[in-house]
Amino acid sequence: MNDSVNQSSCGDAGTTVRVGLDERSYDIHIGPGLLARCGGLVGKHLDRPKTAIVTDENVAGLHLPTLQAALNAEGIEHSAIVMPPGETTKSYDHLAHLCDELLRAGIERADTIIAFGGGVIGDLAGFAAAILRRGVNFIQIPTTLLAQVDSSVGGKTGINSTLGKNLIGAFHQPVLVLADTDVLDTLPQRQFAAGYAETAKYGLLGDAAFFDWLEDNGHNVLQGHGHARQRAIEVSCRAKARIVAEDEREGGVRALLNLGHTFGHALEAATGYGERLLHGEGVAVGMVMAFRFSQGCGHCADGIADRVAAHLRLAGLPASLNEVPGPLPPARELVEIMRQDKKAKAGKLTFILVRGIGEAFVTQDVDETELIDFLEQELSQR
Ligand code: GLY
Repeated sequence: MNDSVNQSSCGDAGTTVRVGLDERSYDIHIGPGLLARCGGLVGKHLDRPKTAIVTDENVAGLHLPTLQAALNAEGIEHSAIVMPPGETTKSYDHLAHLCDELLRAGIERADTIIAFGGGVIGDLAGFAAAILRRGVNFIQIPTTLLAQVDSSVGGKTGINSTLGKNLIGAFHQPVLVLADTDVLDTLPQRQFAAGYAETAKYGLLGDAAFFDWLEDNGHNVLQGHGHARQRAIEVSCRAKARIVAEDEREGGVRALLNLGHTFGHALEAATGYGERLLHGEGVAVGMVMAFRFSQGCGHCADGIADRVAAHLRLAGLPASLNEVPGPLPPARELVEIMRQDKKAKAGKLTFILVRGIGEAFVTQDVDETELIDFLEQELSQR
């Protein structure tokens, strides 16, 4: 699954990555200035010149006028439904409100809606699209790094349950993804770093050369210098497109994309899905824990977890339980939270472990006593 960064080609003009899923295949366009000139690309996917934009208050304040102008330029009628920002918007109540608003906006079965925002908006609007009138098409215009490299691609949509994250949802592929790299300039540094964790994930799970490249070029990705940012997004999207094309509904290899997520989701749940620990931060801590746990189980050589942690810290990310603010529950409680994980099979937890950088594997063969001992050890260092 090696996708050396040297094989990628992209320049100022942007690039396109194809997600090959037969009749549900679609393009991911990546590059600067896409938003301002997206009317033509969007228009190609509309049955009639009418759409509804789903966004949040933050993105609306910064970028909605640019999108609206681009649609106006192509004579596309549009309404905008502006949701509150934040993970709590991925709820039954907000989903019901959104579906009603889309119906009020006159969205019909053959129409296409636009999810314009970060992962929360993409997941929520995508799920609304999956169920509205038994399914309408949708376009993803992701505005965070996390959404551009991960959540906008692959068709996972959904909301959270009080019992856990993303437990209610559907696979529903977008018909187009537009990742405008310029919109990332308005992203707060902490949000950008959170997305960087998902970018690093592609190197850590299957592409050691990409992780090496990030170690050399991560500062340019973070600061938006040169082509590094676009290249990192392209390599990430190519990796994700390849995995999704092979295993759309996560029967096998797609589970690798959850590297760090079993630990990370438990930490997010334990910290209340909020500002204490952003999703990407939970993934960063979770990935280092997956490396440390793999090391403890004898799968991975010593020192590699420290190398991963050092790189993530340089990107401004937390890389251990010590760096998660506030109290955390005891190990057994964290394991109980993990039991709600969607990857659990026949009551057994699924983990993504590693043999080294770029060598992740899926296993249900994790001894719970070893897991609890490991978590107790990690917690004791707080
Ligand atoms: N974010 C993991 C996946 O799309 O499968």
